[in-house]
Amino acid sequence: MNSLPYPVAFKLSEIPEQASYEVVGAEYYDDQLHPTCADFRAASQVFLKKIFELNAPKGRIADIGCGRSLVREFAGDSLVLIDESASMLNLNIGHNEKRRINVINAPFGNTEFDWIFAVLGDPYNDIKAWRHIAGALKPSGRCVFIVPSYLWAVKFRKSTDEEVVGKARFDLSSGESLFLPSTILPFDQQTAMISSVGMLMECFDHVYVSDLPQIRSKKISEVLKDDDEVLDIYIAQKI
Ligand SMILES: C[S@@+](CC[C@H](N)C(=O)[O-])C[C@H]1O[C@@H](n2cnc3c(N)ncnc32)[C@H](O)[C@@H]1O
Repeated sequence: MNSLPYPVAFKLSEIPEQASYEVVGAEYYDDQLHPTCADFRAASQVFLKKIFELNAPKGRIADIGCGRSLVREFAGDSLVLIDESASMLNLNIGHNEKRRINVINAPFGNTEFDWIFAVLGDPYNDIKAWRHIAGALKPSGRCVFIVPSYLWAVKFRKSTDEEVVGKARFDLSSGESLFLPSTILPFDQQTAMISSVGMLMECFDHVYVSDLPQIRSKKISEVLKDDDEVLDIYIAQKI
């Protein structure tokens, strides 16, 4: 079966069609089990620290696909937390408003937010979600969209034949492997999608390997050099 694009252990029939982070649950944040997620999270934290120091985002702020919200560490209790997964939302203890919404399938606000953060937003990096982001922002409001770098996605995919294009693979503690949606686009395609919903690209930024004290994941350290970007960050403003 060498013609399969992934090993026999991960036959197409075994990839759940409707898999969600509900299945990955709390183990997503176990850095021994999922060091790649932990490294991308640490890199996101580096960027959030910088933007909250430099731009001091204020007003009404949302964290979409919040998981165990990192934005909350900077924006506090007034932040609105949005996620399709109840178990992810429940990882957040505190007084924040929580909305259980699939941001691809449904609007999550109407000209309500000054800032929308999407930290590791590749699972819902879809034109329908971007329409909902544009709809939820106030005029001149901004979206900060953070994804693993396209450079990493390309280099990592070249280094292995165990991955599926457009999916992120999670090897769970149960021994099962789960493939979840992950759309990481080159700059031109990502900015075309953002422009198509009436938003203006304001800034394209990165966090680099050298910005992190350590890289735990071999999936990252074996393919990226010190001066390679580990995250791509798109900041777009609603016109
Ligand atoms: C890669 S995790 C990142 C979580 C969190 N932002 C962090 O940095 O730790 C993606 C998150 O997006 C959520 N998610 C995935 N697809 C979604 C969708 N269509 N609508 C809303 N949330 C979604 C998942 O439940 C998960 O919590």
